[in-house]
Formats: sequence, structure tokens, C-alpha cells
Amino acid sequence: MFRSALPTSLRAVPRARIATTSLPLASTRALIATPNRTAQPALKQDTPDTDMPAPVRTTAQWADFGREHIGRGLGRLRDHVIVKGEGMELITADGERLLDFTAGIGVTNLGHCHPVVSAAAAEQVSSLVHMQCSIMFSAPYLQLIERLLPVMPHPSLDSFFFWNSGAEAVEAAIKLARQATGRQAIVCFQGGYHGRTMGSGAITRSKTIYTQGTGPLMGGVFATAYPYWHSLGVTSETPEAELVRLAEHHLDMLLRQQVAPNEVAAMIIEPVQGEGGYVPCPPAFLHHLRAVCDKHGILLIADEVQTGFFRTGKYFCVEHSGLRPDIMVFAKGVANGFPLSGIVSRKELMDKMDVGSLGGTYAGNAVACAAGVASQEVFQTGEIEANVAARSEQLYNALHALKASPKTGHLIAEIRGLGLMTAVEFRMPSDPLTLSGLAPNTHVPKDIGKRVQQYCLERNLVTLTTSCFDTIRFIPALIVSQEEMQKAIDIITAAVENVAREG
Ligand SMILES: Cc1ncc(COP(=O)(O)O)c(C=O)c1O
Repeated sequence: MFRSALPTSLRAVPRARIATTSLPLASTRALIATPNRTAQPALKQDTPDTDMPAPVRTTAQWADFGREHIGRGLGRLRDHVIVKGEGMELITADGERLLDFTAGIGVTNLGHCHPVVSAAAAEQVSSLVHMQCSIMFSAPYLQLIERLLPVMPHPSLDSFFFWNSGAEAVEAAIKLARQATGRQAIVCFQGGYHGRTMGSGAITRSKTIYTQGTGPLMGGVFATAYPYWHSLGVTSETPEAELVRLAEHHLDMLLRQQVAPNEVAAMIIEPVQGEGGYVPCPPAFLHHLRAVCDKHGILLIADEVQTGFFRTGKYFCVEHSGLRPDIMVFAKGVANGFPLSGIVSRKELMDKMDVGSLGGTYAGNAVACAAGVASQEVFQTGEIEANVAARSEQLYNALHALKASPKTGHLIAEIRGLGLMTAVEFRMPSDPLTLSGLAPNTHVPKDIGKRVQQYCLERNLVTLTTSCFDTIRFIPALIVSQEEMQKAIDIITAAVENVAREG
């Protein structure tokens, strides 16, 4: 039986239900003892059929434990131990509440533990957890397709494959493009990020650290300039039309001098670069790519892993430009935190793949799909879209005021983004491209973004930096209220003013 539609609500569980001083979850009580609390006999009590005593540690001891047993390849902003997420807030094991402007890197678009999504997942957990997708259909898998079909940015996108992570879905898109065209080459863009696996990492161009020392990666990859001034070696004041002209020129050179167009299977682009610095792609460039692809029988892949599900103000970012991708990749916001990703393309293309060439043990997991269905129910009320429009205007106004201010304007190279995928790029004393337009001898300090981030963290506002340039990004859940946004704006403003004052 398919689940019937549940009532939706923009906000998650009312705040009053959680006491700030106590640890909220039974399982958390089992694992964490704080200095203020008596240690619980935890697992022993919760699972009486085992005589293994549960280690009980303080929060600090758990953090030590984590540092000792998790390798340094996994970087981490801070060693807080988080035990609960509620709407816009993360709650630490010590009961501290953090205002989360990361949303798990653009994943929990409906806020932490949205009641509609969590209820759907809980209901699914008691009926069917796993139905391997190469054996039979699961009801939530089909139901999710039914929910997504009407909101696809183009009606030709009618055939789906679900996987777990964004990187896996990117690899599925590459496989589809190669099998469907019989060609090998993939064109990607400078500053692009598509994942860290051997295939997706091969087309990632945002930072060398993601693949450094791990090659050889997947072959047949060619990178060209993105219409972003850093990518083209021009200043931040360069007009958009000129950026587009230059990027088109670089692509033309690539297809004349490096790889013949009839050998290219696909071009893959993020409509707003994420890890590359939250750089929206001008619609004119996207339409140029469409024309080049059509001319040469190349498939155009839109990577909407980070931009999808209203992050940029529309269900999918390509709607802003009206671009029709041949393949679209999605993940992150689709199931509000449950691991789920996918590709969508036209059936005629998908059916060119050999039977069995796509699949994966957990691909399209039933609980993740049920969470995905519930997430779409909430998105499709229209409340999220309206909130993104209002809150992004509030945020951009505040950031532009910082750029216009004589106190702080000299620190900022550019404010950019779309919807609630928002960033501030700071000037870098070591990078002349970022210094253009400044009065001579203006002092620009180093590492502004990191200092702003640190100031915010000290006031319980969590933000992320991004790209190899000095950029800070703001990606709150799309349910963020006016008051929460104002609270964050006040902290961010004070943080930038503080760096300007200290120099
Ligand atoms: C545009 C884009 N593509 C792909 C990925 C990879 O997704 P995942 O981390 O789920 O593998 C990301 C992750 O941030 C992304 O932003």
C-alpha cells in the first residue's frame, strides 16, 4: 500500500519540547555522560540480553576517542559531539544549541528532523527497510518517481535511477553518457566539484587535495574554463558578457586543439558551482553549451546535487535559465538527510544501457525513498519556495550593505549566489585579481573568511568556507525564519566589522 499524503508544516518540532540542559535521546543517554550528570549504566540497561558493559565517556572523552580512531583523511571543522538536530539548530552533547548555517552541506533543506519526513521514515522502517532494486521494485521507490516526475525541469526527463551518494550518481551519469554515445571523453569545468571517488574525482577541479596522490584517475577527461573571473584570470569587475565570451573561447579552443567534438560523450556542469565558490553560471553560457552539445551529439549533464530542491529558489536550478539537460544528477536535498541520490534522463537514452550495468546493494533504499517522498510533499506545498525568496533577499541585502559600508567594503571582493546558496568572497592580499578597484595602500588582512567563521562559531553560529579562494558560504535550511536569519546576519556583520577593526 502506498502511504497517503501527510499534512505538512514548514517548521519542525516546537522548540519547547527539548530542555536545553538534558540530553534528549535514549540512545544518547546510553553513550554520553556529561560532567553535570551521573553516568548511566547505558547499553547494559537498554539491551539487557548482552553482558558487555558499555563504555561511558564524557563528551570530551568521546571527542578524544573520535580523534584517536578516525583517520585524518576525514577533515573536520570542530570536534563537537552532536546528539540532536532540530529545525535550524544542532544540539551538542553538552546541551549547547548551535544555529546551523551549513545544513549538513546543503542537505537538510527542510531543517533537521522535519516531522513529516521523520514520521514517513519511521513508518517505513517498520514495514520494509531493504528491497534490493535489482531483485524487485519497492513501493517507495516507485512512489518517489511518481512524486518527482511532475516537477522535472523538462518533460523529457522521465526515466530514473537511484543511488546513495552524489558521487555515485555522477558516476552513473558518466556511465550512461559513455554507453549511450559510444564515446569516451568527458568535458568538465575549472572549479567544478562532483565528488571524491575515482570517477567523480577525475572531473573535480575545485581543489587538488580531493585527489592528490591517488591517481591515475578515470581517463578521458578534459577541463575548460568556467565563466568565473578567477578561472579566466581577469578581475572581479569584469562584466558578465565578457566572462561568457572568454569561457566560450576556451571551450572552442578545447574542441579544436585537445579533443574532437565527435569523441566527446558529455559535458558536465553545475549551474551554480558549489565547492568552486558558489558561482552562478550565466544563463548565456549554459545556452551556448546546449547549442554546442546539440551540434555535435554531445550529452549535457547538469549536476544539481547541491543546487536542487529549492536551494537556489527553484525546484531545480536549471529552471532559472530554462536549460534542458540530457541527464540531471541529484542528491543531498532529495531526502533531507537520508542517503539517496539519482540520475534522471530520457527513457530512450537510459534504455541504451546494458541490462545490469546499473545497480548497487543499497541503491534506492526503501527508507530513504520514503523520506524522499515525504520531502517532496513538503516542497510541493509552495511554502519553501516563498520562504527562500524572502530570506535570501534579507540575507543579500545585509551582505550588500557590508560591501557598501566604508568600514568593511574594502575586505569584500564579491557577494554572489542564488537563493539560499550564498557566499562572500573576501579579497586576498596574495591575489591581485581580488584587489582591483581598491585605493592604493589599503590594508587587506589574510584569511578573512576563516576569521569570520571563527568569530561566528564562538557565538554558536556554524558556517562553512568554500573553494581555494577566501570564500565563506551561508547555506541555512530553507525553513530559516526571519528572526533566525536576522540573528545570523547580526553575528556575521559583527564578525566582518571585527576583522576590519583588528586588521
Ligand atoms: C555539485 C556536487 N556534485 C557532487 C557532489 C558529491 O556528492 P556526495 O558528497 O554525496 O558524494 C557534491 C557534494 O558536495 C556536490 O556539491
